[in-house]
Amino acid sequence: MKILFFTGKGGVGKSTMAAAAAWQLSRKARVLIVSLDPAHNVGDIFGVAIGNGKKRFAETLFLSEVNLQKLSREYLEQETNVLSTTYSYLKTLNLDTYFSVLKYSPGIEEYALLTSIEKTIRDDADFDYIIFDTPPTGLTLRFLALPKVTITWIDRLTQIRRQILEKRYTIHRIRGTLSSEETILDYKEADDDILKRLTTLSNNYHALDGALRGDACHVVLVFNPDILSLRESQRLVEGLRELGLPLRLLINNKVTAENKEMAERVEHRMKIAAGDVLLERIELSKTLLDGEKGTLYDIQQRIIPESW
Ligand SMILES: Nc1ncnc2c1ncn2[C@@H]1O[C@H](COP(=O)(O)OP(=O)(O)O)[C@@H](O)[C@H]1O
Ligand SMILES: [Mg+2]
Repeated sequence: MKILFFTGKGGVGKSTMAAAAAWQLSRKARVLIVSLDPAHNVGDIFGVAIGNGKKRFAETLFLSEVNLQKLSREYLEQETNVLSTTYSYLKTLNLDTYFSVLKYSPGIEEYALLTSIEKTIRDDADFDYIIFDTPPTGLTLRFLALPKVTITWIDRLTQIRRQILEKRYTIHRIRGTLSSEETILDYKEADDDILKRLTTLSNNYHALDGALRGDACHVVLVFNPDILSLRESQRLVEGLRELGLPLRLLINNKVTAENKEMAERVEHRMKIAAGDVLLERIELSKTLLDGEKGTLYDIQQRIIPESW
């Protein structure tokens, strides 16, 4: 299975390129395209309503749109359940108040998105290609950064939890209550619910982090022959590098005879920023611009290199 992320500034053609790539790849492989952008348009591009779950568009092509609001709500509910069970003994802390505030906390959307990517990669591993159409740059970088941040936190929390268990064990030993069943159970790491939960989370995030950093992952950056798009793409390249995520393809989209010179200049700058990365140039399709007549099938140029 290969995972592709289409990233770039709003309006450069991420969704269009992701859809065209999905369509082209589906001629030789099983493809799932997942829209993560709250402003979904993959359904519009293919001219179908996607709804919940996966929609089969062709024999080997499936479409899906992530409902970010619903997902955030589910994510919070699930975490609420886990936490209120785990911490049911904490009578002094009012968990209800905590959770009603938590839904306004920054980062919930990013976590919900990440959880959905993790689940898709796990559950839909039988696809040859999973293509993610991502939201505009900022949100994308923030959620792609999360596995690393989260793993750091989980490691630290695990350490703290171990210290707590260790201290509890010592206290019981001093008091001579070591033989009580509770103490012995609490000391065994495998029997501590909190540690178990931390281990599960750690495993899931390590798996996701591995998938994002590994050979299977391909980040595609779409840009246009203009300065604003260049600037934002340069920042994105920098962000991806900091996160250690594999940028493997640059797409210079909407090139015309008129903007060819600008296109070359922007490509030159992007090569300096990104180094030795494949580059495709996709022409502006006149019929595609004319929404009434144009369809995505008008894009004849190959989007994804043959070798992928
Ligand atoms: N190669 C192209 N030729 C003509 N129009 C294009 C091309 N690529 C994208 N577009 C048009 O540009 C607009 C923005 O594209 P879209 O894929 O929605 O961008 P994004 O997902 O990056 O916001 C759409 O109207 C789309 O039809
Ligand atoms: Mg889009």
